[in-house]
Amino acid sequence: MKIFKERIKLSTEILKNKGLSFIPTMGGLHKGHISLIKKSKKFKRKILVSIFVNPKQFNKKDDYRNYPRTLNKDIKILEKLKVHYLFIPSYEEVYGFKPKKKIYLDKTSNKLCGFFRKGHFKGVVDVVNRLIEIVKPKYIFFGKKDYQQLYLIKKHILKRKIILKVIECETIREKNGVALSTRNLKLMAKEKKIASNIYHYLKNIKKNKENRFDSKMINKFKKKVLKLGADKIDYLENYNIKKMVKEMNINKNTKLFIAYFIGKVRLIDNI
Ligand code: PAF
Repeated sequence: MKIFKERIKLSTEILKNKGLSFIPTMGGLHKGHISLIKKSKKFKRKILVSIFVNPKQFNKKDDYRNYPRTLNKDIKILEKLKVHYLFIPSYEEVYGFKPKKKIYLDKTSNKLCGFFRKGHFKGVVDVVNRLIEIVKPKYIFFGKKDYQQLYLIKKHILKRKIILKVIECETIREKNGVALSTRNLKLMAKEKKIASNIYHYLKNIKKNKENRFDSKMINKFKKKVLKLGADKIDYLENYNIKKMVKEMNINKNTKLFIAYFIGKVRLIDNI
């Protein structure tokens, strides 16, 4: 695996290849990332992974500072998976140039996580736009666990007419149902159990197609999530995933979106 820290050196090297498969990450690699990389192998292109903890998408300095960083372990994982290129840029390498394309922020970016984490999606779309300009991939891979992120990046790519195929990958879960996330590294066993119970509770809500998401019911669901051990809930909403708007009824186009805290750890999921 060739490791690059400078965008110019990376561009020179990858010019030789006809369009790569690209998996942008913030490191702290887990089975979710590994599944993206394994999926990318099916596309028969050289694989490039980037690791960059993007300060612009953190709305709290503390959260940025405390975000898990496990670079040596990540490198070992990527080598084992036979990834061709790893890009670990500095802040300057990412933000020290003017991108050709302006970022497009769909109006749904101020909902759900966008409402509670001001500036988060602007930071995400900005960094992904820049990384795409540096890497010029043919395919880019994202997990559905961060569904709103995936939705907004797709809108940006479409609106800015970027020739690039977005490959959407299923959420990977632990045996106890908890969606894999780098942030899980911060959970103790007891807290994982809480997250698992919340997942199973939400799954049950989803199963009962008679459930309605009016404010009275949502409050009832939220109360139970708190009783199960969540310390705070940012949102619990039923959303149409094609349009990213609230919906009252459960159907094939809806998912239950949640963001909640266990202690200081913020977890999100969609079920
Ligand atoms: O999902 C992530 O890890 C990040 O938001 C991404 C897409 C790598 C941008 O920093």
